[in-house]
Amino acid sequence: MSKEMITKELYRLFSLENKVILMTGGAGAIGSEIAKCYARLGAKVVIGDFNEEAMAEVKAEIDKEGGECMTLKLELPDADSINSVVDATIDKYGRIDVLANIAGINKRTLMTNGSEETYDRIMGVNLKGAYLISINVAKKMIALNETLPEEQKVHLSIMNVASYNSVMMLGGNSVYGMSKSGIHAMTRSQAIEWAKYGFRSNALTPGHISTKLTTQLWSDPYYSKYMLDRIAMARPGYPEDMLGMSVLLASDASSYMSGQLCIVDGGCLAGGQPWEI
Ligand SMILES: NC(=O)c1ccc[n+]([C@@H]2O[C@H](COP(=O)([O-])OP(=O)(O)OC[C@H]3O[C@@H](n4cnc5c(N)ncnc54)[C@H](O)[C@@H]3O)[C@@H](O)[C@H]2O)c1
Repeated sequence: MSKEMITKELYRLFSLENKVILMTGGAGAIGSEIAKCYARLGAKVVIGDFNEEAMAEVKAEIDKEGGECMTLKLELPDADSINSVVDATIDKYGRIDVLANIAGINKRTLMTNGSEETYDRIMGVNLKGAYLISINVAKKMIALNETLPEEQKVHLSIMNVASYNSVMMLGGNSVYGMSKSGIHAMTRSQAIEWAKYGFRSNALTPGHISTKLTTQLWSDPYYSKYMLDRIAMARPGYPEDMLGMSVLLASDASSYMSGQLCIVDGGCLAGGQPWEI
């Protein structure tokens, strides 16, 4: 097979050229790698994030590489903030082809030390925020499609970010786990209710990822052994390990995938390290 044919087939399946991708949390450790990758594949990337300084850094890197990126301050789960970010994206690009709900927070606390404030804060960003922005974008794309000819209609793909914690619990992570289990339920609901509009929804489900926020856990012998024992591949995941699945879910290569929990965890949920025989 010639290089030219391989490139052509890869391009047909995975190119994001001219896709408008709105991503929340695009300034974070995982989100920023995904944003840069999407831009390299030709997408018009819009980052909505709370952290303006970090967003500016990601935008500068994308600009330097010749990619296209717009940044907008977003405060999840505030409905007005969500509405203005979605409207600003549509004002600039006319449509949204992909919504990537990546923003997420955690605070490790035992349930007996839990509080209403902790619950509201984590559920607010991780679940309510993703829920509200999804509805906002979906309704606007449904209305837009009514005005467009068949060949120009938006086939919205939503990539929600869930977690190993959607399925398996860790001590001190109850509210985070509840929010991420909710992301799985929301993904399946979006998939079944919005298929009739030509929309899809899937959940990128990372395992134990090494980022700035989890450095403290990975550098602690007790926690790192606990995690490594549970990862078949016996190494942490890194933000770059999330790129293949993120591209698949945003691209037309996944055109018949919806409602899936797309686990990228180095064999963690498969059972982790086998016992010795
Ligand atoms: N790091 C891991 O080990 C891991 C594992 C599984 C799943 N995840 C999930 O992956 C996603 C990204 O995680 P990360 O490790 O890159 O975290 P991160 O903290 O580096 O990035 C999160 C981003 O969300 C933004 N954000 C936080 N609160 C916000 C708000 N109220 N409004 C708008 N933006 C807000 C932050 O500014 C940040 O840029 C999260 O949903 C997280 O739950 C992470």
